Amino acid sequence: MCGIVGYIGDKEAYPIIIKGLHRLEYRGYDSAGVALLNGSLNVYKCKGKVSDLETFAKEKDKKGNIGIGHTRWATHGEPNDVNAHPHCSQSGDIVLIHNGIIENYAPIKQELKKRSYVFKSETDTEVLVNLIEDIKKNESVSLFEAVRIALNQVVGAYAIVVFEKSNPDELIAAKKGSPLVIGVGEKEFFIGSDATPIVEYTKNVIYLEDEEIAVLKRSGEIKIKTIKNKAKTPYIEELEMKLDTLEKGGFPHFMLKEIYEQPRSIKDSMRGRLNATKGTVNLGGIADYEKAFVNAKRIIIIGCGTSWHAGLVAEYLFEDLARIPVEVEYASEFRYRNPVIHEDDVVIAISQSGETADTLAAIELAKSKGATIIGICNVVGSSIPRATHAGSYTHAGPEIGVASTKAFTAQITILTLMALQIAQAKGTLSRTKFHELINELNVIPEKVQAVLERNKEIEAIAKIYKDARNALYLGRGYTFPVALEGALKLKEISYIHAEGYPAAEMKHGPIALIDENMPVFVIATQGTSYEKVVSNIQEVKARKGKIIAVVTEGDTVVKGLADYTIEVPQADEHLVPLIAVIPLQLLSYHVAVMRGCNVDQPRNLAKSVTVE
Ligand code: AGP
Ligand code: GLU
Repeated sequence: MCGIVGYIGDKEAYPIIIKGLHRLEYRGYDSAGVALLNGSLNVYKCKGKVSDLETFAKEKDKKGNIGIGHTRWATHGEPNDVNAHPHCSQSGDIVLIHNGIIENYAPIKQELKKRSYVFKSETDTEVLVNLIEDIKKNESVSLFEAVRIALNQVVGAYAIVVFEKSNPDELIAAKKGSPLVIGVGEKEFFIGSDATPIVEYTKNVIYLEDEEIAVLKRSGEIKIKTIKNKAKTPYIEELEMKLDTLEKGGFPHFMLKEIYEQPRSIKDSMRGRLNATKGTVNLGGIADYEKAFVNAKRIIIIGCGTSWHAGLVAEYLFEDLARIPVEVEYASEFRYRNPVIHEDDVVIAISQSGETADTLAAIELAKSKGATIIGICNVVGSSIPRATHAGSYTHAGPEIGVASTKAFTAQITILTLMALQIAQAKGTLSRTKFHELINELNVIPEKVQAVLERNKEIEAIAKIYKDARNALYLGRGYTFPVALEGALKLKEISYIHAEGYPAAEMKHGPIALIDENMPVFVIATQGTSYEKVVSNIQEVKARKGKIIAVVTEGDTVVKGLADYTIEVPQADEHLVPLIAVIPLQLLSYHVAVMRGCNVDQPRNLAKSVTVE
């Protein structure tokens, strides 16, 4: 999610804030805004880049030594001037910026509307600032106390900075699930989503913990409490990191940062949609089209590259769980082959960027034939979501690395939820299995984290094979698309030729490639075709192929056959793609780094292919 900046002290706030927003631009943005207090409260915000905000605010009164700024990565309400942050309360007395998702904003908004609150934006954030105002007014409490009470009522993730027009001497900051750092200066405080807007002013920082709320006073005093009202002693640390590594959150590359963000991005993509306690799945974005799915004789999934691979996983999920025939199409092929499309077809278009030209064109073609178009996209308000009838956003946050990683697992998360929701609507899945899968899906982030902790051993394997000239990736069933994705990752960032194949398909040709120089990466996790994959491994071994296998923790059979194994936690095979892809992402990353390749911007590639 995007960037927040705040300042209180004796300097002019605007230059500090705007520079801080530029520092945070790498986190992606679709709109930006700033609020400054200098007797009067001035709020300037607009769609576009930080530079657009600067142009917009150029001739305006930017005075004030207290202020907040925000670059938005929309989750609720498309990118436009009104939905941009900061958001003011109804009275105009309170102004707030927010990173994150307020899951229960809808019922709170409903209640506030009954109390005659009128909302200008579609955002969840505007609900929060009005909730704070409502509490402050009704309970006659301080802003700090009103924020604390409000945060006990919201469900979701937040990093917020808030202040009130009537009090230029304090900023309030709070976080849960989204990042926030406080820079401590001489009688001045700086706030940032990370330390990049802060590091040039002070190295003394305080990292708020989840569910902590801080009041930063112009006098230089800081008070921290938990939202449960327990006082906390501020712990000041000294920043060591250099600016450019800070932008990557301390990681050497955006790709590695994004690989490590996957426990959070998978969790965020489920947030407010999967409720394991109640045993429910609810993708609100497709609520009006559930019937179209139930009545569909066929689902056509279109996408390109990694998004196409996510579509292949969805094919197994929808056919297996919801018993709906699925076709997965390269968008670039689909759009030109004069396909047969029926009005009762449901088309799912998958795209991280939301701007891929071939996918957009394929959508328009299917739409012109009367099909229902559902989008799965990571960029709110981009072209593809605007071209579809409905859809669900992945909440992976900005993906900067050209090689898609967290978007892929976020797409699969949404597709799994969608298949479960449709299976339930169609009654094709037993309650027991439904609940089993929901509970399993709910703990996938922790299992992904467990795989990330094997990074060092994966790096050691990458070192052995970094000079390979070719590589083969094999999988079966749900892990076949993961084999394709692993091969794509390796070739697109390390420039080693790699191919993914269904493991059984190898004997129909590719086996001729096997010799002692050919690393074969096999996904051999527990599942219905495990024994078959073991036989395929033996076929490779018989031809002196080098086998690197991704196995379920505790596997001894494959361990006895493979040259190297990477263990991943046990998971239901419907969900294994979310886990099995992680070692392959890390393998390709380390090989590329060892080969001196430009990991974040590989040669010849673009992050969004907006041309045919
Ligand atoms: C994936 O690592 C590649 N960068 C590329 O294949 C990408 O998935 C493809 O261009 C589709 O992009 P989209 O998801 O933004 O539509
Ligand atoms: N959910 C808020 C919105 O959509 C904040 C998004 C963000 O983190 O930038 O405006």
